[in-house]
Amino acid sequence: MVIEVREARRSDIREIIRIRQAVTPHLATTERRLSAILESANGKSIRQLVASVGRRVVGEALLGVVATSGGMCAAFGNPHVDPDFENRGVGTALAQRVYGYAIVGHAHELHAWVNDSAHATAFAQSHGYVRRRQAKIQRLELSKFNNLSSGLPLGYEIHRALDVGGMEHAIYSAEAKAIADEPGEFIRQGLSFSDWLVTVWNMSLSELSLSSIVTYGSQVVGASYLECDDRGVCASGSTWTDPDHRNQGIAMAAKESALLRAKGHGYSMAYTSNDGRNAAMRRINHRLGYEHFRDEWRYSLKIEANVGSNV
Ligand SMILES: CC(C)(COP(=O)(O)OP(=O)(O)OC[C@H]1O[C@@H](n2cnc3c(N)ncnc32)[C@H](O)[C@@H]1OP(=O)(O)O)[C@@H](O)C(=O)NCCC(=O)NCCS
Repeated sequence: MVIEVREARRSDIREIIRIRQAVTPHLATTERRLSAILESANGKSIRQLVASVGRRVVGEALLGVVATSGGMCAAFGNPHVDPDFENRGVGTALAQRVYGYAIVGHAHELHAWVNDSAHATAFAQSHGYVRRRQAKIQRLELSKFNNLSSGLPLGYEIHRALDVGGMEHAIYSAEAKAIADEPGEFIRQGLSFSDWLVTVWNMSLSELSLSSIVTYGSQVVGASYLECDDRGVCASGSTWTDPDHRNQGIAMAAKESALLRAKGHGYSMAYTSNDGRNAAMRRINHRLGYEHFRDEWRYSLKIEANVGSNV
């Protein structure tokens, strides 16, 4: 079987979505978002690959390289293989290409999310990846979801992201400050405002009508983003609160309001994923009624060719 790994084209988008939904049903991927990735000016740091056998697309991987603290770079890349084509070398072909891009991008480490299945974790380990942290994936049936929280303390206001035009730079700055202590392998540095607009804000444009932004006076202090697809599924993007405004119910209210809007728009299922150690976010998701769906593991691989060299 000859496997070709190449950069994705627009004509591959439906197949990429089919495979991603089969392997990671908790992610919401839309044609519009994939088109934006393929066309993005950011295309050199984010790439969408496909593996094909003849004319059939049998695997896909989204990968990227980001600048981290100390002048270093980290890469991420998750190979997903069509379940009908497992155990035929497709994952290996994708993983090797991802590794090659990580070397060229001067990354010191490569990270991947891996399903908590014997097959997927054995695959990661056989390619030299080491297990790191656990993510808890949870889901919530929106038809059963109702108003829960007692709202926000005096002075705070919730807005739809769609209604805060002109505040994008304030949101970008507040987000960078708030997510700095989110559990993870690295602190992302140097995400410029223009890159943030492309990769975070504009790519989720259709969901700005659902996502929430919280303000205190003229200051942006919190947010909860949703990404939704045409299966009726919404996936939580980032939820964050400025460190000076935490433990007052801001994140709970922001996420709840976004989910209520999603329910009102007819979406049926919401998924969320959070680090097993993020006690505050786990508490919020528990209160919102999310139930365990599956676990994932973060696996990491040192890029020997780049270890010891700062870019
Ligand atoms: C996680 C985060 C969004 C919470 O924001 P917040 O506005 O403080 O959250 P809320 O006040 O709405 O709710 C926090 C809940 O967690 C509880 N909590 C806080 N710290 C806790 C801890 N260490 N152990 C257990 N529960 C904790 C609070 O008591 C509260 O629950 P309660 O309302 O039932 O009392 C915020 O800490 C943050 O921005 N972190 C960095 C980004 C991040 O990790 N985002 C999540 C990505 S999945």
